[in-house]
Amino acid sequence: MYKVTRKAMGDHKDKALRSHHSYGKLDKDGFIHRSWMKSQGYPDDAFDGRPVIGICNTWSEITPCNSHLRDIAEYVKRGVWEAGGLPLEFPAMSLGETQMRPTAMLFRNLLAMEVEESIRGNPIDGVVLLGGCDKTTPGQLMGAASVDLPTLVISSGPMLNGKFRGEDIGSGTDVWKFSEAVRAGRMSMDQFIAAENGMSRSPGTCMTMGSASTFACLMEAMGMSLPGNATFPGVAAARRSMSHHSGRVIVDMVKKDRRLSTILDRKSFENAIRIHAAIGGSTNSVIHLQALAGRLGVELNLQDFDELSRDVPLLVDIQPSGQYLMEDFNYAGGVPALINDLQDILHLDANTITGEPLGTDLEKNECFNREVIRTRDNPVKPVSGTWKLSGNLCPGGAVIKPNAASPELLNHTGKAVVFENIEDFKARIDDPDLDVDKNSILVLKGCGPKGYPGMPEVGNMPLPAKLLEQGVEDMVRISDARMSGTAFGTVILHVSPESEAGGPLALVKNGDIIEFKGDQRSLNLMVSDEELAKRAESFAPQEAGKYTRGYYKLYIDHVQQADQGADLDFLVGSSGSIVERESH
Ligand code: FES
Repeated sequence: MYKVTRKAMGDHKDKALRSHHSYGKLDKDGFIHRSWMKSQGYPDDAFDGRPVIGICNTWSEITPCNSHLRDIAEYVKRGVWEAGGLPLEFPAMSLGETQMRPTAMLFRNLLAMEVEESIRGNPIDGVVLLGGCDKTTPGQLMGAASVDLPTLVISSGPMLNGKFRGEDIGSGTDVWKFSEAVRAGRMSMDQFIAAENGMSRSPGTCMTMGSASTFACLMEAMGMSLPGNATFPGVAAARRSMSHHSGRVIVDMVKKDRRLSTILDRKSFENAIRIHAAIGGSTNSVIHLQALAGRLGVELNLQDFDELSRDVPLLVDIQPSGQYLMEDFNYAGGVPALINDLQDILHLDANTITGEPLGTDLEKNECFNREVIRTRDNPVKPVSGTWKLSGNLCPGGAVIKPNAASPELLNHTGKAVVFENIEDFKARIDDPDLDVDKNSILVLKGCGPKGYPGMPEVGNMPLPAKLLEQGVEDMVRISDARMSGTAFGTVILHVSPESEAGGPLALVKNGDIIEFKGDQRSLNLMVSDEELAKRAESFAPQEAGKYTRGYYKLYIDHVQQADQGADLDFLVGSSGSIVERESH
């Protein structure tokens, strides 16, 4: 039997490691920290001063996109053991985008808080974040950023391409299309139900360029993940070998004290914004990146997204802005090939988890399919990125994803058809008597961070049935909500301040004229200041006093507006990793 000496336990090689202060002590406290861990069968030398690696896992059966992460964790552990570390897996609140009510976004900050304190409170030296579904990775990373240990990200990976009647179908994107087709009488209910079975064929995240795929791509572009993280399918052997290798990397990161803040800086955020434009990324990432920047003290605002994406067309031809799916992007070369193509406008000296700059060995990153990853002289669409809109309807700003919009609607003036909240919208949108035509602008209030609460993905409002029957396929829609990264349309989102917080959106009335000039990035309510001031006198929040306890109350009292990242105000910034006091 292996014999362990006091030296192995107490005379740790690296007394600077956080874990040394728990596992390296030959006293009552050291006994307590080690002994209970040994109930799981760890030998003495598991606590000999080796790097302790936390594997923060958002596995859950109610988060189907993350349902295979327990399996993935085992591969990470292989790599950690092999590199001389001690892997310890722990759970974190899982946020299933398609399952949670009123919206998973309400709980992103709660996950971030849980992850932050789980990392800080435990004797770990580095952490691997296993997430994937839309809000899990941003929430985990925000929490980890406020502790700042060596950290890397492994995403769930996308589902295999959906299949229906011999064709590829995409998560989310085709749901919206099929749903409108049913409402317009072009698709039977039997076909609609049959499509359900073909859409989600394997574990993993939405295989369109939704919020999960977008953020996974950004993790690669920001140097937080190994190459292939975004595109290797969830079921692929390559994802498992990448996870194994990630286990080795995180141990090396601890040994070299390569902390998260040494990787995520202004350069990496600028790289992320440019890649975001090239892939036609989700508008949700704008909010997540701002919240993350806030944790790290990196200056980032909506204008940065607009300016840094102006010279980047849409290059990756993936739904919802294009036609292919993530599996196709993977076989075309994935994010590494895209980075290679964009090297002249990226910060190639940006740091990564491996310690090598982003620009290392770029020539190896070939593109194998120019239909899927286009070049800048043959883009999918000439305009991409995120536009920041300004004007009297959105003093804090609003955003639109121009590549998902109808070009002819990107400059449009129309009469407002106003819905006071989501219930009002659902009750009246299909009313044959609704006073609406294809030039109207649909306005939805009450869906911002405080109003819903949680800022749900309802901004891509379904069009009125009577217009669908006439063949109308898109209209300008404005709200303080978000929309799914898988959605499309001329949809103006994240209007700040939101209506519930007394923003001008709350003052819009049926028949008001709204002027949207995308070319000038402006969004204005054509109502005089005097009239708006008069309307403001009778403004009252719709949800005031409704939530009096628990997390909902904490959230509503402290959530920032969308233009700042919708973090809780007291979570902005970092507290570091040091905890002075012992537990017993
Ligand atoms: Fe989980 Fe799309 S619903 S990634």
